[in-house]
Amino acid sequence: MWKNIEAAPADSILGLTEAFRNDPSAQKVNLGVGVYKDEEGKTPILNCVKTAEKILLAKEESKSYLPISGDPVYAAEVQKLLFGESGEVITSGRAVTAHAPGGTGALRVGGDLLKKFYPDAKVWISNPTWANHKGVFKTAGFELAVYDYYNPETKAVDFEAMVTSLESIPAGDIVLLHACCHNPSGVDLSDTEWKQVAAIGKEKGWIPFLDFAYQGFGESVEKDRCGIEEFAATGVDLFIASSFSKNFGLYNERTGALTIVSPTAQDSAVAMSHLKTTIRVNYSNPPAHGGLVVATILSNPELHKQWLGELAGMRDRIKAMRSELVEGLVARGVKGDFSYITRQRGMFSFSGLSDEIVAWLRTNKSIYVVGGGRINLAGLTRANIGYVCDAIAEAQNI
Ligand code: LMR
Repeated sequence: MWKNIEAAPADSILGLTEAFRNDPSAQKVNLGVGVYKDEEGKTPILNCVKTAEKILLAKEESKSYLPISGDPVYAAEVQKLLFGESGEVITSGRAVTAHAPGGTGALRVGGDLLKKFYPDAKVWISNPTWANHKGVFKTAGFELAVYDYYNPETKAVDFEAMVTSLESIPAGDIVLLHACCHNPSGVDLSDTEWKQVAAIGKEKGWIPFLDFAYQGFGESVEKDRCGIEEFAATGVDLFIASSFSKNFGLYNERTGALTIVSPTAQDSAVAMSHLKTTIRVNYSNPPAHGGLVVATILSNPELHKQWLGELAGMRDRIKAMRSELVEGLVARGVKGDFSYITRQRGMFSFSGLSDEIVAWLRTNKSIYVVGGGRINLAGLTRANIGYVCDAIAEAQNI
């Protein structure tokens, strides 16, 4: 079967991790995939997760199927994270949530569902965006289009250009937005800009789809959901893909959720019926463990508090690495103003390193950076940051 078929290219992000694993260098540094590492360079299991797993192990009595949409307690807790304890969206019953296998699974289920009812819609992605967005929505059968977002000169959001783009998008098209910690650029909208974008969405009639993979990695769980709140307040149809890979460290448990907000509770019930049929023909029903861990933590006040503390610890360590990277580059006389690195939010810095330098760093220093120059700050530790700064300084002269 495969004789006349060309091999597919390696994934631009996960393929890098494979190459990193096979690299024999003792000094190798992986600044590629968006996975949190602690000061020891390890991806820890959070203490709240360990405790929740003990609780679950003691009380688990069956491995029978979950409902198609997953555990109802999980869905309720996810909605509280998105809209606040007693947010209007929750009290009015305007939202439905299904456990999906990771944020990627949520995006794909949402894509498949939208394709059913909007077969001719385009999906608009930001320039730039997470590489896999393109693959997910293309594979769901959509044509893609691009809206302006990042200005490489100012290393900030080009809001004027973004507004012009968004105003040109016709009703019924789908607009994919990063709710916080934009991947790969690390630059986000301000609260007032979110308000404006939500108003444009309502006026133009396009369908917002918010990818929310880093809640709590920007400022806080509450502040990072500003975009969700602004769109929800407009009363439009809204899709949200949550991921708990990063903020709960549950990467390999594939724990995400698709939430659909509708204008009324009746609409929501119809949305849920189609969400279930979409899931049923895809993976039937979700894996249980990750969702049960999240539900256990969020519904237990002590564990919830512990989680917020551990999340703040991850966020603060990444912020500290941002400052140390800037100091390290300045100390080595690397040309340029790097202050933008401390203004970016989340795990990533869109470093401005050229593809040539990215390739040089990999070949000569075993430092792995995603093409386009995206650096995962969480891959930096006090043990490797000097080596990375030296390498970047050397790379300037190649
Ligand atoms: C990333 O952007 O590195 C992460 O979201 C991991 C992934 O699946 O690409």
